[in-house]
Amino acid sequence: MAASAEGRGYRPDALAAADIDAYLVQHQHKTLLRFITCGSVDDGKSTLIGRLLYDTKLIFEDQLAALEADSRRLGTQGQEIDFALLVDGLAAEREQGITIDVAYRFFATEKRKFIVADTPGHEQYTRNMVTGASTADLAVILIDARKGVLTQTRRHSYLVNLLGIRRLVLAVNKMDLVGYDQAKYDAIVADYREFAASLGIDRVDAIPVSGLRGDNVTAASADMPWYSGPHLLAYLESVEVDLTAAQALPLRMPVQWVNRPNLDFRGFAGTIASGSVRAGDVVRVLPSGRTTSVTRIVTAGGDLARAAAGQAVTLCFADEVDCSRGDVVARADEPPEVADQFEATIVWMADEELLPGRSYWLKLGARTVTATVHAPKYKVNVNTLEHLAAKTLELNAIGVATLSTDSPLVFDPYARDRALGGFILIDKLTNATVGAGMLHFALRRSQNVHWQALDVSREKHAELKHQKPAVLWFTGLSGAGKSTIANLVEKKLVSLNRHTFLLDGDNVRHGLNKDLGFTDADRVENIRRVGEVARLMTDAGLIVITAFISPFRAEREMVRKMMSTGEFIEIFIDTPLAEAEKRDVKGLYRKARAGQLRNFTGVDSPYEPPESPEIRIDTTRMSAEQAADLVVERLLR
Ligand code: ADX
Repeated sequence: MAASAEGRGYRPDALAAADIDAYLVQHQHKTLLRFITCGSVDDGKSTLIGRLLYDTKLIFEDQLAALEADSRRLGTQGQEIDFALLVDGLAAEREQGITIDVAYRFFATEKRKFIVADTPGHEQYTRNMVTGASTADLAVILIDARKGVLTQTRRHSYLVNLLGIRRLVLAVNKMDLVGYDQAKYDAIVADYREFAASLGIDRVDAIPVSGLRGDNVTAASADMPWYSGPHLLAYLESVEVDLTAAQALPLRMPVQWVNRPNLDFRGFAGTIASGSVRAGDVVRVLPSGRTTSVTRIVTAGGDLARAAAGQAVTLCFADEVDCSRGDVVARADEPPEVADQFEATIVWMADEELLPGRSYWLKLGARTVTATVHAPKYKVNVNTLEHLAAKTLELNAIGVATLSTDSPLVFDPYARDRALGGFILIDKLTNATVGAGMLHFALRRSQNVHWQALDVSREKHAELKHQKPAVLWFTGLSGAGKSTIANLVEKKLVSLNRHTFLLDGDNVRHGLNKDLGFTDADRVENIRRVGEVARLMTDAGLIVITAFISPFRAEREMVRKMMSTGEFIEIFIDTPLAEAEKRDVKGLYRKARAGQLRNFTGVDSPYEPPESPEIRIDTTRMSAEQAADLVVERLLR
């Protein structure tokens, strides 16, 4: 409808087109309502949105970015657009050229400004809906009066509720096609309220509408005298905006950067995510926990006595406390929590499934850390709300899992405060946003398990053995010759009185890792465990030799990072697939080709060769004996 409206020559708001600054000044004192429309494919969503835009003031989508930038520049952020976390992820993803299908449309009335996220209804667009809903204050749930509550209606409501939207309005559409029948309407509303109650949603407002004819959309309907409530636009204009709710929450300001133009000025800049702050307030900087008081609240437009959620400010403190990008400023008596292990709901957004055990970037507030997701406890069938057993999460799946981060995170449970409870997961190699999540709570383990300082240090262990610990990490296809060469290397090192230990794939899979198979997820976990064991062994002063296919770059890099610089030596046994297959020492390639062995590396499971290994060995040009000499020589050098 919006597109056809364009086609028929409807113009954008004349003033906005002529002078965006003037337009913004005119609208800056109005509150902003962000909402999302949910509905399945044919229930008339576009028509309804088109009607709202048509009857109010339409601004074309592509002007939104300009409006956002201008509103920041004009310092009207108080009531303005605040791109929350998940949309950051969206923007990042757009830059990479991956389109996520959420259209944001902007319109305004005399009373209020609106941004509506228009998302597709199909199940394969769950991630789009999640993105759209993550910043919305309200959801309009559309129902076709002829069809009533559908599976999609239930799924959308579940998602909207999951993402913390507490206000729902039911628009029972196409009332003209059911003869404006009150009984039909009442039955649908009752049916929906019963379902909503099962999700713990106790308040649902409802409006009977016809998007096509305009009944109860922007004006009262003459055909439904039995309905005495407000029409949809009046409802949207008068509903309490969540910004007031965000301001009522405890103060949270993630520090975006330290503002230090000269030696006399040191301020901490960021957008207040929730709550409010006054000059003189005693605040606490997390995660350090240090307290101080606010001396000034600086903005482009001058100092303020008070600032609240949505405003971009620079805070100055009375003391020289340590505070840097990613830290969070809170009121001293209402601090958020700090932890490094959590339970969370995760929505998976990538084609490639979640790999438990793999390291991803986790971005929350202004902070980015490394995180590992553990095997999901369950995933949710979003159509029936059933809990299903899950080993991983595929595209659009929603599950509950625990995760751990490599450094402490300052957070609030998502249910309490979306600002510090919502996060995104980013693939470390491609930089794509692969998941979004909501933190439930910290695992107590993370508060109660501490690092025990040991008196006999790793240096002491190494010194006793008269050697420098190292990891000789062999990688390559099955049958490439890893184990053969690794075995020779160990024998040579031992004859030189070196203390070594060889960890071999086939052997470790008989004990420590006997619960693991050959799916991508299991291989990730296999290598994670082997990496941890190898690290412990280097702590004990050993030269560790490992022979695993270790097909993924990400996990090899992870192990490399676990070791001290120079300690990790990656040895690529570069035997071409055809050659390994020809040798087929264990007869596994034959089985794999015959379809008797699935997920076989090089056949139907990937191998990512190292890009810059410390040592590369071409076994078609060198004997195992020569290869082993080369490795030993490199190590001793
Ligand atoms: S890894 O991919 O997780 O690093 P790992 O090195 O532990 O694999 O185990 C590989 C060994 O398991 C192979 O040398 C082979 O003997 C055996 N194996 C059995 N099934 C498979 C399979 N589907 N893919 C690869 N190797 C397999």
